[in-house]
Amino acid sequence: MCGIFCLLALSPAQLERDKTVHEHLRRRGPDLSQDLTVRGPRYQCLFSAHVLHMRGLLTPQPVLDNAGNVLEWNGEIFGGLPVRPEENDTAVFSQRLSGCDSPSEILSVLSTIQGPWGFVYYQKAGDYLWFGRDFFGRRSLLWMFDAVSSALTLTSVAAHSPASDGAAWLEVPAVGVYRIDLKAATEAGFVTLEVYPWAHGGGDLFSSCSEAFLGSVPSGCTAVRNQSGLELPSPVCPLNTSIPEPFKETVYPHAHSCVNDLEQLLATKEMNDEVNRLIDVVSEAVRRRVQSLPLRVPDESPPLSDQASVAILFSGGIDSMILAALADRHIPAQEPVDLLNVAFKLQEPKKQKETANKVKKHKNKPSDAKTPGVDTQTSGPFDVPDRITGRAGLKELRELNRERRWNFVEIDVTQEELQKMRRERICHLVHPLDTVLDDSIGCAVWFAAGGKGMITDDGERRPFTSSAKVILTGIGADEQLAGYSRHRVRFTKSGHEGLIQELAMELGRISSRNLGRDDRVIGDHGREARFPYLDENVVSYLNSLPVWDKADLTLPRGVGEKLLLRLTAKQLGLGRSAVLPKRAMQFGSRIAKMEDKHEKASDKCARFLSG
Ligand SMILES: *[C@@H]1O[C@H](CO)[C@@H](O)[C@H](O)[C@H]1NC(C)=O
Ligand SMILES: *[C@@H]1O[C@H](CO)[C@@H](O)[C@H](O)[C@H]1NC(C)=O
Ligand SMILES: *[C@@H]1O[C@H](CO)[C@@H](O)[C@H](O)[C@H]1NC(C)=O
Repeated sequence: MCGIFCLLALSPAQLERDKTVHEHLRRRGPDLSQDLTVRGPRYQCLFSAHVLHMRGLLTPQPVLDNAGNVLEWNGEIFGGLPVRPEENDTAVFSQRLSGCDSPSEILSVLSTIQGPWGFVYYQKAGDYLWFGRDFFGRRSLLWMFDAVSSALTLTSVAAHSPASDGAAWLEVPAVGVYRIDLKAATEAGFVTLEVYPWAHGGGDLFSSCSEAFLGSVPSGCTAVRNQSGLELPSPVCPLNTSIPEPFKETVYPHAHSCVNDLEQLLATKEMNDEVNRLIDVVSEAVRRRVQSLPLRVPDESPPLSDQASVAILFSGGIDSMILAALADRHIPAQEPVDLLNVAFKLQEPKKQKETANKVKKHKNKPSDAKTPGVDTQTSGPFDVPDRITGRAGLKELRELNRERRWNFVEIDVTQEELQKMRRERICHLVHPLDTVLDDSIGCAVWFAAGGKGMITDDGERRPFTSSAKVILTGIGADEQLAGYSRHRVRFTKSGHEGLIQELAMELGRISSRNLGRDDRVIGDHGREARFPYLDENVVSYLNSLPVWDKADLTLPRGVGEKLLLRLTAKQLGLGRSAVLPKRAMQFGSRIAKMEDKHEKASDKCARFLSG
């Protein structure tokens, strides 16, 4: 992961960059920072790149090739283009681009890459500036146009300033790849963005001519679709939109939320094949994301036996449990794995009334009461639901592999720390997203990804900081396998058709909802977020399946949503965690409890407005 930045000025004026933004970029790429300025006939481009070294030899960026082309690459090639373990993908990608001449050649290189990316590329022949994000938008890229100085800025991360005057940061929509004709732009005095869209990208909601897209183009710039009709082929196959025949709706009418029933389902041959194929494809996605990681300097402070190269955002829920179980297959047995578990301090003891209500509710749902952690009596101020399920998950993982050292990192956050870090750092990283939900999740993920907390070793609790450069997160599982309660609502209201529409829409907007933000927040610690459930092959496999194989929302909560994933967990030897109902991070970590109870998740977050 890297921090990339490009300031394009259409005037000979002095290039001036925002110092705060520069500082934020350096935190993303702490291993090497470098600038490069290109002066064209009547434009100038300041490139500034900050590298987090991940593999091969450390490759300085921006990369300048013999022909004078400049590349800034914030990505990982996990497939598509061959990169040997000792090679750096930046160098490989730059060489490929150097051999390209026409737009179709550049698009063809980009579309063969499997893996997350954001990039900026200056093509000297013809004076073009290319940039964009991968199909899912797994890497952040922001833009802003300053009409006064006729300057366009592209950057991985920006800064939040409460008193911003007119020009504002926006996320570059992950609808395709963009090209600016620099000569034409200098002549015209304004920027025309030529869009080469992903075929079938983002559904209809966020296509390159939708209102949502046009609203994300910086004011002062125009976006046009090239008449040549060139597109980037989609890296994943389209979503299977089959609707089940009527009898299918009641295949498993008597299921209850318990482990035995999952075993029964698993015993049916058809599902078993799908489960095994899903294990294969997710396991491979995890393998590509945990291998060939850089060796750490041997005399770094924590003792070697503590040093993990991979950490997992870990709630003990099914998504993170599966990632842990599969990471276990591919990480050398003697190396520990860090499980990052975040908790926000509970403000006050639970009110009598609330507890009583819950107990009553659970009487009608015996299945839920058995689930560990869902309603267990809390003891310490940090024993939030995710902490309790996290501990239970840790136990299951230890049973799965007794050799492995699992560092369960308890990251405890007080109200004071939260307020301080939100003001100093997190508000800048979440920006330009600005809702209450962005605040909650942004803060929870930031503290979790910091990896700083306590671990318990032979009964002794001690401070610990994760040494992992790679953080696996389970994002994408709920969006593809119908894990959210809104999926149930939609299914109840409009059946399988409605559910399919909802799933297609959610995968289409995941870049603007989650991924850019999470990339900025996690990257701030000099660590790289990796999303195995959004691997191209995983998405293609899940897209190929009919919706009723992925979820059966006629079954109870804790079984029906993400049914296929639960069966997978069972097959991997996991126990109770396979039947935990979904709990969103803001509730599981209890961060939502700390704040104003009357605000809605979609409201603009007042805590950002005050700066
Ligand atoms: C990695 O990149 C650097 C700089 O671009 C280059 O000098 C080096 O040869 C590359 N290493 C490999 C193994 O490709
Ligand atoms: C579209 O692409 C072609 C070929 O690259 C180029 O000649 C033409 O100017 C482009 N059209 C627009 C509207 O930018
Ligand atoms: C969708 O799923 C159905 C049922 O399994 C299958 O028959 C069909 O071939 C699938 N369609 C695609 C495009 O994969």
